Amino acid sequence: MNILSTSILAADFKNLGQQIVDVDSAGAQYLHIDVMDGMFVPSISFGMPVIESIRSATDMVFDVHLMIMDPIRYVEEFAKIGSDIITFHQEAADDPQAVIDKIHGLGKKAGIAIKPKTPVSVLLPYLDKVEMILVMTVEPGFGGQKLIPETIDKVREVRKMLDDKNLTTDIQVDGGINDANVMAIIEVGANVIVAGSAVFKGNAKENATKFLKTMGN
Ligand code: DX5
Ligand code: ZN
Repeated sequence: MNILSTSILAADFKNLGQQIVDVDSAGAQYLHIDVMDGMFVPSISFGMPVIESIRSATDMVFDVHLMIMDPIRYVEEFAKIGSDIITFHQEAADDPQAVIDKIHGLGKKAGIAIKPKTPVSVLLPYLDKVEMILVMTVEPGFGGQKLIPETIDKVREVRKMLDDKNLTTDIQVDGGINDANVMAIIEVGANVIVAGSAVFKGNAKENATKFLKTMGN
């Protein structure tokens, strides 16, 4: 079964609690939480107080996507406030293995992310070290962008690299995914699908229900 991770970056923040209940009741399994520092990416989103306060709104898996420089500095704090999966960018870490070890040491699942222009080969040392690989399908930093078509081939390559080693690591895709292109990306090997605008613009519960159906759930 594929997993839908709904990205609250596109949510209506004045109704955030209700929006989370809506996607939860529709059956979305993960809540994707984009943390941006204004350095690794141009924008700043939100941080610990928001995550801490929404933790009690749902039992959904908190899928935290750190778009921050030198992520090891904050792993412990994100673990403490209720993250279940902590994903950091390969490009932002001097020693990705140290970040992975820190996340695991805190009892959390680790994900490693790459931007659209980063070659998939940088993932090779970590294929069997993480629970999830995030292949960005847009330049990180903003919701509501169009999927970059070349990234579909990267997903296919990562799935092949994993298959060659008999690994069943999750592949997450993030950015510009909608009803019309989700099946194409699942077919090449992605199984954790992030959707922001496609779910939260309009009626979140209806959109998430429809999205899950399109994904074959
Ligand atoms: C972009 C974020 C995404 C974003 C996706 O940097 O990592 O998670 O919220 O939003 P959509 O689905 O609108 O492209
Ligand atoms: Zn994200």
